[in-house]
Amino acid sequence: MATIKAAILGFGTVGQGIYHILNEKRQELREKLGVELEVAKILVTDASRERVPGTKHLMTESMDDVLAENNLQVVFEAIVNEEPAFTYLKRAVEAKCHVITANKVMLAKRGEELEALAKVNGVFVGFEATVAGGVPIIKTMKNILLVNEVSCVQGILNGTTNYILTKMRAEGWSFEQALREAQQLGYAEADPFNDVSGQDAFKKLMILSSLAFGEQPNWAEVEVIGIDTISSEQVAEATAQGLRYRHVAEVEKLEDGTIHAKVAPLLVNNEHPLYPVDDVFNAVTMETNYIGTLSVIGPGAGMYPTASVMVEDYAEIIGKRAGFTVTI
Ligand code: NAP
Ligand code: HSE
Repeated sequence: MATIKAAILGFGTVGQGIYHILNEKRQELREKLGVELEVAKILVTDASRERVPGTKHLMTESMDDVLAENNLQVVFEAIVNEEPAFTYLKRAVEAKCHVITANKVMLAKRGEELEALAKVNGVFVGFEATVAGGVPIIKTMKNILLVNEVSCVQGILNGTTNYILTKMRAEGWSFEQALREAQQLGYAEADPFNDVSGQDAFKKLMILSSLAFGEQPNWAEVEVIGIDTISSEQVAEATAQGLRYRHVAEVEKLEDGTIHAKVAPLLVNNEHPLYPVDDVFNAVTMETNYIGTLSVIGPGAGMYPTASVMVEDYAEIIGKRAGFTVTI
């Protein structure tokens, strides 16, 4: 049986999740895909620290070292920020590797460029994990867009902020306590300012805009308001009135063809579809011409939800390459 060699860039919450799932599902993946997968290299900033027992020999701090691996075919990327992630993935694609990323900052800015480069090199880019964690919003959109047109996408796109708002309301926790817990659970970004300021939801919204409309609005014109402006007193007051705060991202195509987007907290009553969406859950609703309103909901962050959709991307890509659709 052939062996596919893979590298994992970043070995924090998501990178370790990928490693665990690949190990746990090794046999099923081998049977379904007809190939063995071997994790050959793991890129980190500090290779002296063994995060998972038995992985020290795979660790490296050098992308040259990763790409020097003979016959490397797949690169999972779970590091942070646009650079050096984009440069690493560009090099991987040029070396004819399929790339699977969770990095929404990089993808929102450079996704188009990366996809074009992948096309030229005959490889695929998997990016399901960049938006809404374990919720398969990218696949859902790709599956309906051949026939349907999307006019509007709205939802909760950040798990950390929804978790914080839920705990402030339901448990009476302070903002700081809820954020600390979200960090411990592996939901928050390395710099959680990206979550609470709305920037993380904004990048995900831009990825959905590219997919739905083939373009993004001018970033400078998008209003982005975080949840860091909401006090415990405001949350208590809303609760007393039967209302809940939700952090909502929305992008729509107007009749004149322009794209309008906004990220901001919204007070909703119990008739609003986002009212019951608590904890780390994300929910995305699309308005489409033929299907009508379509919604997906599920865990929007965390080790296993996120890593599992990256392994699903891997299975889909390897299946496509072999000329069949994989049903796990
Ligand atoms: P994390 O726990 O902070 O882990 C980041 C990992 O990347 C660490 O192992 C770090 O190395 C490594 N790293 C960072 N910069 C690097 C560089 N320049 N070169 C080599 N290694 C580098 O972060 P995470 O939560 O796993 O998130 C990773 C990515 O997935 C981010 O882009 C995030 O937005 C995205 N994401 C996260 C989630 C989630 O629920 N956590 C969900 C969806 C998407 P060291 O260990 O040596 O510091
Ligand atoms: N920090 C992000 C969130 C991770 O809380 O939604 C998932 O992209």
